[in-house]
Amino acid sequence: MKQFETPPALTILFGATGDLAKRKLYPSLYRLYRKGHLASGFAVIGTARRPWDNQIFREHVKESVMKSTPLHDQIEEFISHFYYLPHDVSDSESYAELRILANELDQTYSLGGNRLFYLAMAPEFFGTIADHLKADGLTDTEGFGRLVIEKPFGHDLPSAQELNTQIRQSFDEKDIYRIDHYLGKEMVQNIETIRFANALFEPLWNNRYISNIQITSSETLGVEERGGYYETSGALKDMVQNHMLQMVALLAMEPPISLQDEEIRLEKVRAFRSMRPLTPETVNDYFVRGQYGPNEGELLLGYRQELNVDAESNTETYVAGKIMFDNFRWAGVPFYIRTGKRMPMKSTKIVVQFKDIPMNLYYRPDDQELEPNLLVIHIQPEEGITLHLNAKRAGHQLHTTPVKLSYANSGIDIMNTPEAYEKLIHDAMRGDSTNFTHWDEVSLSWSFVDVISKAWREQKAPFPNYAANTKGPQAADALLERDGFFWWPLNMLDVDAYN
Ligand code: BG6
Repeated sequence: MKQFETPPALTILFGATGDLAKRKLYPSLYRLYRKGHLASGFAVIGTARRPWDNQIFREHVKESVMKSTPLHDQIEEFISHFYYLPHDVSDSESYAELRILANELDQTYSLGGNRLFYLAMAPEFFGTIADHLKADGLTDTEGFGRLVIEKPFGHDLPSAQELNTQIRQSFDEKDIYRIDHYLGKEMVQNIETIRFANALFEPLWNNRYISNIQITSSETLGVEERGGYYETSGALKDMVQNHMLQMVALLAMEPPISLQDEEIRLEKVRAFRSMRPLTPETVNDYFVRGQYGPNEGELLLGYRQELNVDAESNTETYVAGKIMFDNFRWAGVPFYIRTGKRMPMKSTKIVVQFKDIPMNLYYRPDDQELEPNLLVIHIQPEEGITLHLNAKRAGHQLHTTPVKLSYANSGIDIMNTPEAYEKLIHDAMRGDSTNFTHWDEVSLSWSFVDVISKAWREQKAPFPNYAANTKGPQAADALLERDGFFWWPLNMLDVDAYN
């Protein structure tokens, strides 16, 4: 059994005035606090360049919590645990002050020297901060010292390796918690449970019964004010290298021998290792890219017109790809992924399409072919699963009709569903690294993605090739058509779409 209690700990947050802290981290900490998960003692030191004091910081935290949750009854008590220090990440004096305050709070709140160093800031500082934390004695305590790092972890394999080597001088791999917030999502965590807790699925979970798997994560937003970052990343590095490949690995991995973090990781790593590598010559057979242009009437800007984006930008805002696994379980079964900005709907879904039955005895009234069975995992915004089956249509004739068995987390469940960040912070505090990405996963996913990004860098794409608020480039459909498949339309997969 995994430990559920949260030990007392001091969280030292770098990037405390930033957007992520405000939108996600403070509300998540508050929810943990309200649920009693921080009961045994906690304190937070926020650091950033701004010359704030405790008072301003506490007001800031309060405002962020008030905006995001309707239950504020414990807010005053909660914010009294927050402290602020202006900080220069490359200056040892800043760390000396930090150390003094950390030691004081350690005593005041009896935190046992447990520390969580949370880096919610630009990645170029990760290495420097990790170095200083050790050199300036902040990791030098009786308790645990864990480093929580936001993405991106490098921008390709060599840069990720370099960063890893640097932070490993101060932290052991077991104390590094690399965040991929998709791994905190309720239904992403549910992939393993659906697969490994049901006698129904695991026997069918292979190339004898599954014809293909489709994973879509579409967003309606464009790049908003993140043009500067996005120009260096694109959809491939922003979504595929991490979130999409993590979902692929959870679907493809072998059953672990236990739910211990290292056992699950071992199987995920084996799954990554069996992905068929691409070569510069094969990239365009397996992956396609897109970039949104303005939509009709130009109410929505094209990507090239967005703030801080090059007017000739070759950066992709859409990626679709086919991933093959060269192993016994999956040989011959394509895993299709697609992700894009400025799509018509915000939706993340996984569709497992089963093979057709060997011989069809039935027909449908309109001569349509029998639908294949589908298992749809709704990740967001709805959370649930739907099984698409065929049943007899009421009446004298032997007509079939598609039916759906659905389980959806109800509205109340969803409201109570912990936010991805809430779960991940809780996990990091408890020392459970299952839902974080280990270095082996990061490095394998970069090696896979690097080949694609290098090939794309070297070829100018005919961008823009889809209008904002449309479903992406035609080439993404052609990718499946070549194999005799098509993308299941997302609106058809909604819980009630057949009725
Ligand atoms: C982030 C990306 O990691 O994930 C963003 O940097 C993207 O560009 C976001 O919008 C999507 O996350 P979610 O949870 O909204 O699907």
